[in-house]
Amino acid sequence: MKTNIKVITSTTREGRTGIYIANWITLVLEDRPEWNVELLDLATINLPLMDEPNHPRLQQYTHEHTKHWSQKIQDGDAYIIVLGEYNYGFPAPIKNALDYLFLEWKYKPVGFVSYGGISAGLRSTQMLKQVVTTLGMMPIPEQVNIPFHANFIDENKVFNPDEAIIRSANTMLEQLHKWAIALNTLRK
Ligand SMILES: Cc1cc2nc3c(=O)[nH]c(=O)nc-3n(C[C@H](O)[C@H](O)[C@H](O)COP(=O)(O)O)c2cc1C
Repeated sequence: MKTNIKVITSTTREGRTGIYIANWITLVLEDRPEWNVELLDLATINLPLMDEPNHPRLQQYTHEHTKHWSQKIQDGDAYIIVLGEYNYGFPAPIKNALDYLFLEWKYKPVGFVSYGGISAGLRSTQMLKQVVTTLGMMPIPEQVNIPFHANFIDENKVFNPDEAIIRSANTMLEQLHKWAIALNTLRK
């Protein structure tokens, strides 16, 4: 049986580069028989700043955009967040998208593919781990951290990983699948 995984972008600005990395990891997952992958691009999903009147825990959603987002996230057994770093922290769109929901995230594993300058988005990742654990998610320790990511993006906007990045992605996906199976049992 295939495991549903959602790849989620974290940046939405015009000219953003995170989408090229998200496209790459989505293709990697499409090649693997154990995963059923969907890319959830926050720029397309276009959530406004969190505007629900009730706490997400109650799931009393009043807006169509929230109901749509809820269904997409409910459908996931695992997530990959393709995480940029803005001012040593996580970009606002991903925090906003996380805040919209609560139970939909619970008891599910998340892997990070982070990118940035010399720190490769690590500060952002460490910060977002605090948030996802509050939602009951399991941020797995294996992650893909890409320093100077722009060097791997060619003129056709394709992300071309080196051997080290490919190795870390393989390790992360292997572990993420184990967590997804284990936490599926917990959710039942
Ligand atoms: C508002 C802003 C803040 C940034 N802050 C950081 C930072 O703290 N650390 C870092 O490594 N890169 C930082 N950068 C550079 C980004 O890593 C780089 O622009 C990257 O492409 C951003 O992701 P995006 O293209 O998906 O928006 C920043 C970029 C922007 C636009």
